[in-house]
Amino acid sequence: MKVKIRVPSTTANLGPGFDVFGAALSLYNEFEAEYVPNARKTSFILEGEGKKLLPKGEENFVWQSMLETFKVLGEDKYKLENLNIRIKTGIPLNGGLGSSASAIVGGIALANVLCGKELDKSKSQVADIAIKIEGHPDNVVPAVFGGLCACSKDGDGDHRTVLHLPIPKLKAVLCIPSFELRTKRSRQILPKSIGLKDVVFNISRVAMLTVAFCRGDYSLLKQGMQDKVHQLYRGKMIPAMNEVFETAISAGAYGAFLSGSGPAIAAFCNEKEALNVQKAMVKRWKEESISVKSHILDFDTKGVLEI
Ligand code: HSE
Repeated sequence: MKVKIRVPSTTANLGPGFDVFGAALSLYNEFEAEYVPNARKTSFILEGEGKKLLPKGEENFVWQSMLETFKVLGEDKYKLENLNIRIKTGIPLNGGLGSSASAIVGGIALANVLCGKELDKSKSQVADIAIKIEGHPDNVVPAVFGGLCACSKDGDGDHRTVLHLPIPKLKAVLCIPSFELRTKRSRQILPKSIGLKDVVFNISRVAMLTVAFCRGDYSLLKQGMQDKVHQLYRGKMIPAMNEVFETAISAGAYGAFLSGSGPAIAAFCNEKEALNVQKAMVKRWKEESISVKSHILDFDTKGVLEI
């Protein structure tokens, strides 16, 4: 039996919505698993950017998430030795586009299909397992459902709410610098508590962001994507972060923000401005001698899919 799954990339936070807002985008990873009952050795095939970088054994996130799902489903027939796993990475690995969330969601979906699709069809159990593994919901939830989501998780994740917002009629310009910034490190540097003024600032921006998307009034995004909870601190590790935001806006973007925990930066704009915005952002980073990969992306509406 062979199973093939596609999972979209994601951009999280959208500025002030730290650990809450996330959107699925049109760059994808593909995951394949074949069950070979009498095999004694796993075949792990990696393709794309992850070819030389991802681990091929038990430490691989896709396998770990499959294992977690087999446990939830009470299934112990599948071992690493009797699976052929193929991972084709189209999502850049160096941070900001949800590549680990995609591996987690891909692993859960592979295990679910191998086990006869026992998890509920609404994908809500897939999201629950993924949130438990990842810890925060804002990348895994849009990777599961697609679209633009606001998510809340209480305690260990036993209570969670997912709100689906209208998909923006916009393009997302993503610029991914060549240096890496691990999410773990990028979370460690954040302060343990935030002052009341900054909290009020972020609440007001999240209100603007929500209204902007619900009404399709994107002129609110410039202010609505401002943040004082995480970008301030992360910006110290990302050369010219604020200047790249400003450059994107001057070139025609409605708003710009650090994509997830960075170092990628995202800007939302109309289709006709997208190329200008992309060129301006890349040029500004080049002035800092930082080479950048960039993509003009659509919003993915489907989330994780069996293909
Ligand atoms: N909300 C997360 C963060 C996204 O900013 O750390 C990265 O996974």
